[in-house]
Amino acid sequence: MIEILLVAASDERAREIGALLRDSGMAHNLRSEAGDARHLVRHAAHLKKTDLLIIEADALSAADLGALEQASTHAPQLTCMLVTPALSTDMLMAAMRAGVRHVLSWPLDAHAFARELSHVAGKKHAQTRRAARVLSFVAGKGGVGTTLVAANLAYVLAAARDKRVLVVDLNQLFADATLLLTDKPPPATLHDLCTQIDRLDAAFFEACVARVHPNLDVLAGAGDPVKAGELRASQLQRVLELVREQYDVVICDVGQEINPLSIQALDQSEAICVVLQQTIPHLHASRRLLDLFGQLGYAANKTRLIVNCYDKREQVGVDDIERTLGARPAHLLPPDEKSARHAVNQGMPLAAAAKSSALAKSIDVLATALCPAQHEPAKRSLARLFAPKAGAAQLKPSH
Ligand SMILES: Nc1ncnc2c1ncn2[C@@H]1O[C@H](COP(=O)(O)OP(=O)(O)OP(=O)(O)O)[C@@H](O)[C@H]1O
Ligand SMILES: [Mg+2]
Repeated sequence: MIEILLVAASDERAREIGALLRDSGMAHNLRSEAGDARHLVRHAAHLKKTDLLIIEADALSAADLGALEQASTHAPQLTCMLVTPALSTDMLMAAMRAGVRHVLSWPLDAHAFARELSHVAGKKHAQTRRAARVLSFVAGKGGVGTTLVAANLAYVLAAARDKRVLVVDLNQLFADATLLLTDKPPPATLHDLCTQIDRLDAAFFEACVARVHPNLDVLAGAGDPVKAGELRASQLQRVLELVREQYDVVICDVGQEINPLSIQALDQSEAICVVLQQTIPHLHASRRLLDLFGQLGYAANKTRLIVNCYDKREQVGVDDIERTLGARPAHLLPPDEKSARHAVNQGMPLAAAAKSSALAKSIDVLATALCPAQHEPAKRSLARLFAPKAGAAQLKPSH
């Protein structure tokens, strides 16, 4: 998905560029603004997230060139394209000096335009290779809240922590992770993807996921146990290899089934979150899970115990859990039936449907614990760099 900002002098040409973008078949988000390049300063914050800036103009003034130069200097990921009906050698040279790398004459040639777009998409793909943190959510018993926790944690990381997040629903029965985040049906399932695994590439993958937030995709579960049974660990391995490069966090809703497929996800996970509640059967099932993880060779510190619907008045307390499972719970989530039901029935994450609920707040704390913010040196914000300084010197081109 490429993020495009179009700044166009002519409304009519802006509409035509929009139509060409749609026809190109390239996945994109377009924001269109009327005006000149010199007004880029107004979009300083947005430029940070933009891959392609298209300027449509008859001419470029010194102020336009200065603003373009600042934009390309301070948003290094940005590719600048100029579209003009009045291209001259002088204009071409000035635009290139200001950081414009693609210059096209109006009327646009659809093929040339599509070729430039695919360069931008290729550049973005090369820049955005990531190494996702894979987190798996498992439970010894059904109905403990594994999917609710996994899906809502994913949403918080995407919407409030600006991470690119993918949820992979590995449930073998009637997988429902998508239902907790959207009321729209997913375009495809993990089973659909795996049965066409030879076609797998970034574009095919993108066509298979449900985009529930600009930062959050969900790969829906197989949908029924028969189809789920056909999935192969080697297929999931290929999917995970691909998605690790595209997302910051990959969350696998494993549920209860431990089989070659889910072991593939667990092997690749940095942390395995075991969700349980405060009853003896839950302790028993969780103990068996932890024993199994020991047999699979996982270090004890790879697992995190998450107690859902925690109530301190319950007979089985935190000390009992620690004694039985050999580790203190990493997090305690409160019971909040009203908020949980309200969110689930609307197909909305808790952070949107019941933002101030105790459960939403507790999931936010869990997000920080599982994905702590990395220490980054203080960055000068683009907005500050664009802020007007005394005098008019800031918009001067360097040539
Ligand atoms: N902290 C909570 N407070 C109140 N209700 C909750 C809480 N967590 C989950 N629930 C509710 O419990 C039910 C089961 O949740 P969920 O589907 O997430 O469990 P699961 O472990 O994924 O189940 P399954 O075994 O079917 O995969 C849902 O109705 C959900 O809204
Ligand atoms: Mg579930």
